[in-house]
Amino acid sequence: MPVINYVEFDGSEYAVMVTEGANLMQGALDNMIEGIIAECGGCCVCCTCHCMIDPQWKDAAGAITSGEGELLEMLSERQDNSRLSCQVTVTAEMEGMVVRLPESQY
Ligand code: FES
Repeated sequence: MPVINYVEFDGSEYAVMVTEGANLMQGALDNMIEGIIAECGGCCVCCTCHCMIDPQWKDAAGAITSGEGELLEMLSERQDNSRLSCQVTVTAEMEGMVVRLPESQY
């Protein structure tokens, strides 16, 4: 299980093991990391699982799907490295990944 480092907006860091095949949203929820809300439960319709993945793991995070891309365009806080955490499947290549969470999901 790779270790994923979630960093809240206030700088709080949580290094947690996330099962391969799960997604980054589930990893946050399972570990009670508050910066991810995930209102839609991972159905890619709510944008409340927004995160920013540090650039060195961009390729490991995989491509943005068209549906995810459309939702990301609606976010005022969107960054170049923004993703919806429910759409990023955890793999062994993500060991040590840094996932930053926005100040707010709304
Ligand atoms: Fe709703 Fe990811 S949990 S879009």
